[in-house]
Amino acid sequence: MASEQVILGIDTSCDDSGVGIVVDGTQILANVRASQEFAHVQFGGIVPSVAARRHALVIHSLIEEALRQSGLGLHDLSAIGVTNQQGLAPALCIGVAAAKSLALSLEVPLIPVHHVDAHVYSIEMTFGGAVYPFLCLAVAGGHTMLLMVHSRRDYEMVGTTRDDSAGEAFDKVARELNLGYPGGPGIEMAAARGDAGRFLLPRPLSSGKTYDLSFSGLKTSTNRLIRSMKDSGSFETDPTLVADIAASFQAAVFDSLLARCLRYLRSNHVSRMAVVGGVAASATFRLQLNDIAAKTSVELLIPPPEICTDNGAMIAGLAAHLPRVSPRQALDLDVHANAELGLRGLRYRASTKYRDVSS
Ligand code: KG4
Ligand code: ZN
Repeated sequence: MASEQVILGIDTSCDDSGVGIVVDGTQILANVRASQEFAHVQFGGIVPSVAARRHALVIHSLIEEALRQSGLGLHDLSAIGVTNQQGLAPALCIGVAAAKSLALSLEVPLIPVHHVDAHVYSIEMTFGGAVYPFLCLAVAGGHTMLLMVHSRRDYEMVGTTRDDSAGEAFDKVARELNLGYPGGPGIEMAAARGDAGRFLLPRPLSSGKTYDLSFSGLKTSTNRLIRSMKDSGSFETDPTLVADIAASFQAAVFDSLLARCLRYLRSNHVSRMAVVGGVAASATFRLQLNDIAAKTSVELLIPPPEICTDNGAMIAGLAAHLPRVSPRQALDLDVHANAELGLRGLRYRASTKYRDVSS
């Protein structure tokens, strides 16, 4: 890798717009984000056309802000990295269009990046190149998967959700309980006062040999329970009902995730486990992760929140290690909503979170 590669990275794959500037794949000079939470609150989930419009509104000011934070000018940039794979197609298009115009006007290469590959790379960017091999749980609104990462260029999918992502289940149950969007923080706060043993909710696929996960049945059972309680008027008479449902649901999601990790760690020799994605923001989940790390003598690696969630710095960081596209060829760069994991070509099965209600 040539020294002093100053790469600006853009991520508009989902509902956060992120721009980062990273030197030589490791040194973060800027990492700025704009969240769209309020734009999607009324829908209780992400509407792709709304996400794209919000990205278009903020992306140029984020680029300016990242440059300001880094103390650099546009002409200091040696390349532009951009997420063009895995995410909402209309949202990805905004970041790719911004990246193309930057690359063309500055006459620097463009570097296409797979969003999940960048999440995995965020572990090396945070903890250093000696971190391999590690087990990686990527758990967010847009993806839920377990990966065995042997090196930056070599990893395998151990298990993935067969339907909804864990974050999506949090968001949909929170909507039914009126706990806000995104749903995870509201559920966690309510659950802290609740009894997780009051309702026994399903933990699908838990008896199988697979490491795959499923959250759609749990989400449906929980929402059915909530509706039946609403119909019977129980919410008016039972002051702990919301907290008890939130706690029981949260326990079912975390049990499912942790059981897969624990089973993999017990039957394979792995000394480190990493967790990335928005669900890792849960303090409750972190406590339970620490617990299984201690039980299995595994080192737990969780990047700081601004690197754990969707961000531009991880895109700029990984881009330093990836093939470049010349500014002229960059015009042909397309987006891929459900792409294979970029570095090794493993199939990524997308969550069904995203439903375009605009068409
Ligand atoms: O990584 P992220 O910011 O973006 C996506 O890829 O979607 O993750 C957002 C997801 C949301 O579904 C949100 O409900 C979940 O992370 N989340 C949580 C918590 N905080 C955020 N889930 C459980 N507990 C939390 N405290
Ligand atoms: Zn993500």
